[in-house]
Amino acid sequence: FNVPVPTNEPVYSYAPGTKERSLLKEAIAAARATEIDIPMYIAGKEVRSDKKVKITPPHDHKHVLGYYHQGTKAHVTDAINAALAAKEDWENLAWEQRAAIFLKAAELISSKYRYKLNAATMLGQSKNPYQAEIDSACEIADFLRFNVKYMSEIYEQQPPISPKNVWNRVEQRPLEGFVFALTPFNFTAIAGNLPTSVAMMGNVVVWKPSNAQIYSANVLMEIFQEAGVPDGVINLVYVSGPDAGDVIFKHPDFAGIHFTGSTGVFQDIWKTIGENIHLYKTYPRIVGETGGKDFILAHPSADLNVLNTALVRGAFEFQGQKCSAASRAYVPKSLWKELKAMMEKDIKSFKMGGTEDFSNFINAVIDEKAFDKITKYIDRAKDSKDAEVIIGGGYDKSTGYFIEPTVIEAKTGDYETLSEELFGPVLTVYVYEDKKWAETLKLVDSTSIYALTGSIISQDRYAIAEASQALRHAAGNFYINDKCTGAVVGQQPFGGARGSGTNDKAGSMINLLRWVSPRTIKETF
Ligand code: ALA
Repeated sequence: FNVPVPTNEPVYSYAPGTKERSLLKEAIAAARATEIDIPMYIAGKEVRSDKKVKITPPHDHKHVLGYYHQGTKAHVTDAINAALAAKEDWENLAWEQRAAIFLKAAELISSKYRYKLNAATMLGQSKNPYQAEIDSACEIADFLRFNVKYMSEIYEQQPPISPKNVWNRVEQRPLEGFVFALTPFNFTAIAGNLPTSVAMMGNVVVWKPSNAQIYSANVLMEIFQEAGVPDGVINLVYVSGPDAGDVIFKHPDFAGIHFTGSTGVFQDIWKTIGENIHLYKTYPRIVGETGGKDFILAHPSADLNVLNTALVRGAFEFQGQKCSAASRAYVPKSLWKELKAMMEKDIKSFKMGGTEDFSNFINAVIDEKAFDKITKYIDRAKDSKDAEVIIGGGYDKSTGYFIEPTVIEAKTGDYETLSEELFGPVLTVYVYEDKKWAETLKLVDSTSIYALTGSIISQDRYAIAEASQALRHAAGNFYINDKCTGAVVGQQPFGGARGSGTNDKAGSMINLLRWVSPRTIKETF
């Protein structure tokens, strides 16, 4: 099929003196000047409730960005009914017509909404301009364009053989019912991808974003509506998890969930779906990307510059609030002294502060709950005989939720921050004896329940091959001589197994195939 050949959206640098930099500053100023009132969207209509919740930037408690309208179970029911009412027309629309809507959304992001979307991400989720550019504008445009391409390939695939007098074919039906998209705070692009990838395949969606991402979700919804997503196809509600769950998981037309978030929540959802399985018309599709405890393993042959860059960028960009962030490192004793000095120099040069000052590299973590969780681990490491905080370790929530990039050296291979997910700017290093390479491979593989991303840094091809084999199941995205973050749509399909999810690779045909139910047709002449 002739769909446009996708390419990755160019990433703007926002360097001083550029036009893009002034346009982004203008968008930030405009956003800061308005206290926005954010409605839910049900059947294409703005819906307001009598409970308004304040939104403040994570880095600036004093500033009010606006308010969102908190919904109830009744709003969830309305959203489901709106989705089901829109279903027949939407699934009968030719797929090219659906594709056109999402390609238009990508164009709108690229040309018209880029600065508004990035500004919303910077203010609402505390990201610097470069992070927002990658996580909002570019990645969501990429998801939309590449998914349209994969979608066309899915519809094209047909059984290879139709003998004489027979025509065999496969029809890719949308799921029977509605799909629930439950999206995270940390990537605006993931929040946008989960409902659109499902809708693209002819499904109708109830979308509940994280409370901490509603500010940019509202801009995404504006874009989807302008692109022509029909009323009721994607319904956006802001409700508590239990309220959403009580209605959605008991509904006979519940047909699937597209989830990114914590492992614990995903496991609870899976159990609830299991308990209610007799209620549903079809077996729901359960697709989830969950936690990570992502590793960087250095071999004694590692290039120190490559290793240092992989560690400081992998661990501290995006405040470490990436499911892919490097949060545990295994470093041979022979490299440790020099590496530690290099890391310390780089980390101390990072400026921390609000996103409006573009020279700040480190911004705030998302909210008080995250701040308290991460800082408890730091405090415990300060007091522990099994660990030492060797870089950073400071924090302050008086003006915003700021945590210094922190490096913990663990003295034991099973120290808690080597296995538990903190989701913040904390890297734990375990220094191993050079001769214990084989034992270290086993340690990396067995230390955490997760298996999302991981890296090997080495100049020895035998060591790379050995690590690649020994850690085959320890990471769904495996990097050789690079950081373990920064998967690009169309280049590295993203996702992990074990405690990290169902590995249905975001931004791939594998993912889109979960949102259709094939019908095989044999016609005999
Ligand atoms: N795609 C993001 C990364 O790989 C999550 O860092």
